[in-house]
Amino acid sequence: MTAQELYDRLKVIQPGSVLCNYSYETCERMIPVINEIQELKKQHNAVILAHSYVAPEIIMSVADYEGDSFKLSQDATKVNADMIVFAAVRFMGETAKILNPSKEVLIPGSLIGCSLADSITGDEVRALRQKYPDHTFVCYINTTADVKSECDVCVTSSNVMHIVSRLDNDKIVFLPDRLMGQNLQAELIKNGIQKKIILHSGTCYVHEQYDPEMIRFFREQNSGLRVVSHPECHPGVALLSDFVGSTGQMIKYIKEAPAHTPFLLLTECGLSARLQTELPNKTFIGSCSMCRYMKSNSLDNILKTLRHPEKAMKIEMDESLRKKAKKCIDAMFHYAAL
Ligand code: 13P
Ligand code: SF4
Repeated sequence: MTAQELYDRLKVIQPGSVLCNYSYETCERMIPVINEIQELKKQHNAVILAHSYVAPEIIMSVADYEGDSFKLSQDATKVNADMIVFAAVRFMGETAKILNPSKEVLIPGSLIGCSLADSITGDEVRALRQKYPDHTFVCYINTTADVKSECDVCVTSSNVMHIVSRLDNDKIVFLPDRLMGQNLQAELIKNGIQKKIILHSGTCYVHEQYDPEMIRFFREQNSGLRVVSHPECHPGVALLSDFVGSTGQMIKYIKEAPAHTPFLLLTECGLSARLQTELPNKTFIGSCSMCRYMKSNSLDNILKTLRHPEKAMKIEMDESLRKKAKKCIDAMFHYAAL
């Protein structure tokens, strides 16, 4: 890839923040890093998986697989490589390790975390299981391996409704995302499905900041605006949205809309940046809400990880924990296919 080719793809991104302000010179500086990453990938027989929220230059230059958390967890089962470098957040790297125990899984991000995954521990789930012994425990994929190992089935934003509506039990504990749980309750009621759902208190600090007032404001300013939001947003936001779905489902919805439709994307700004380059005939307006954990991945960190992986970048897991957590993920694949 040349600096000009990279610049041509990145220059269309409207800078919501300095991180997205690409010049030809910035792209020129990235090229030697990109070339060395590509070389090291060959040497280590490595592949790079990248979530749509990471910096767009990662997706555009070195990623082998990109997408939402469900697609990436499926991709992780198909990877034919000795090493997986997962540009995303730690729980996604753990999911890849659970599914590929013999492969080296590395996470280049410098900030370990996710406000949802950090909101509940395995010990808290063990205590909840004592309190609700006859409930089915459903966890969002944004959880640690320890939490997954204590739950019956895991879901992602793309399949939460599909899976919960297919569970035999009508008593559910859903954790940790309270807002996604409320959206799920509303959706089940709308579809005439009776389930009693106990919620936890976790939220995504990026998605919880959107409010219905903001949607009204943007609609007044932009005629024909379509509002697309993530199920981690408040139910009031979901209610006023034209479409609610995972990042992968949002991409599909936007691609299928007529040319020149203006969109307000209520999700992490990496997705808008990516779509501005991939879908030049659509208009994206709105704010820049950044996830500091996703954005702690960079081309430089990926290069460092491939050159000399530090201990903190390697995902290691006790085998009995891995097997227990895998059951929860396997249950997701089972229900998702029904
Ligand atoms: P997706 O399931 O849409 O990839 O979302 C993951 C996530 O972390 C959203 O904040
Ligand atoms: Fe976690 Fe929110 Fe960042 Fe997604 S956007 S990784 S849920 S903190």
